[in-house]
Amino acid sequence: MNKYNFGIVGLGVMGRNLLLNMADNGFAVAGLDLDPEKAESLQAEAQDGQDIKATTHAEEFIGLLQQPRTIMLLVPAGKPVDAAIASLVPFLDKGDIIVDGGNTYFPDTDRRFNELSEKGIHFFGMGISGGESGARRGPSLMPGGNREAYERLRPVFEAVAAKVNGEPCVEFLGNGSAGNYVKMVHNGIEYGIMQLIAETYDLMKKVYRMDNAAIQLAFEQWNKEELSSFLVEITAQILKKKEGETYLVDLISDWAKSKGTGKWTSQNAMDLQVPVPVIDAAVNMRDMSKYKPERTEAAKILPWNTGVIAAGKEKNIGHLKQALFFAVLTTYAQGLAQLTVASETYGYDLDLEVVTKIWRGGCIIRAAVLEDFRAAYAKNPQLRNILLDKDIAQKLVACQESIRAVIKDAIDQGIPVSGLMNALAYFDAYRSENLPTNIIQAQRDYFGAHTYERIDQAGVFHTQWD
Ligand code: 6PG
Repeated sequence: MNKYNFGIVGLGVMGRNLLLNMADNGFAVAGLDLDPEKAESLQAEAQDGQDIKATTHAEEFIGLLQQPRTIMLLVPAGKPVDAAIASLVPFLDKGDIIVDGGNTYFPDTDRRFNELSEKGIHFFGMGISGGESGARRGPSLMPGGNREAYERLRPVFEAVAAKVNGEPCVEFLGNGSAGNYVKMVHNGIEYGIMQLIAETYDLMKKVYRMDNAAIQLAFEQWNKEELSSFLVEITAQILKKKEGETYLVDLISDWAKSKGTGKWTSQNAMDLQVPVPVIDAAVNMRDMSKYKPERTEAAKILPWNTGVIAAGKEKNIGHLKQALFFAVLTTYAQGLAQLTVASETYGYDLDLEVVTKIWRGGCIIRAAVLEDFRAAYAKNPQLRNILLDKDIAQKLVACQESIRAVIKDAIDQGIPVSGLMNALAYFDAYRSENLPTNIIQAQRDYFGAHTYERIDQAGVFHTQWD
């Protein structure tokens, strides 16, 4: 009794895989699940040398743990987290740690952090990325909470996390809900990149008339170059999969589901007044995908002559890779800019060099380019936007002709590419010293006497326009 280093509540796929990962790394781990089947099957799965104990009773579970206790919850976000906390708290002592490893909406973490602080219990919200296999083989972990208490979690998290060049993809990120916030934005970026890849695939298919085999080869090749990333890699694998003679991807419905983290990223970006248009577009397109019956009807009455072949089509296939790279870079830029503002607004005290470091491995948005972002933040920790880093800027400038050419083809052919378009529009707006928002200020003053500022004089002005 009392010998287990770590406790996991919730033995679904994520909880069980993380528990087995901890056990592989020599930790003695106790698991709790109210479902006897889950508890028993985990116990049966324990290999020789793995110190695992699973139970269905909260009190017994607590009794198994070394003190002060460290417990991680891997239960669905929302009410189940509150229920799990409520079932444990009566048996806990001051100094114990609870870590929520779900995709929790960050204000919930702040609430729980404050409630449990009053009881002397440390609460951490930790984003975990990498899906089921990541949890088993090495995820990227994004913990936030109390820096000192984190030292007690560090050994186990560093052992189980993915490693890149020997560095673990986990580090304490910041105060309170910082970990959940970073994971939320990770998912917003994930949505953006997935949308951009989908648009690229659509262009290959419908504009450049490539077949699945050619598309597959392109993604496979791109994954060996500067676009090297988990999402490009799995796209190449997806495009290989056949059922009999048919490519599975051609049999999958175009209705994309979502659990909400991308939407939260967009919503909160609006609250913080940070433009993240590629992420917004990605959320919009998943929403648009639901309107299948309406789209089917509209397809009949809103035709466009897609028979027109864009001039320079062959040449532009070569531009596609560059266009995708450009758009992916701007998507990271938007998410990272959101983190910069969120850190100031919510007092997270984030270090974006650390964030980009732990995103290099284990997580869904891991990509070769994260190394460049990390270098940019190492050079200048005050960097407000990675577009302002000279090396990143150079990469974008080198690709801008390509994305403009590709978008022109998409427009000619009537292919919706709002991710790519928003990537370019963001870039064009961000590099505009003068935006036409002077007109908006004048209009506001015209109809509402909202006043405006001038470029030639200091002060606040109102004009009697008519
Ligand atoms: C990860 C993923 C993971 C999950 C997404 C899916 O980092 O491992 O992001 O958290 O697969 O939540 O999100 P949607 O269902 O919203 O697409």
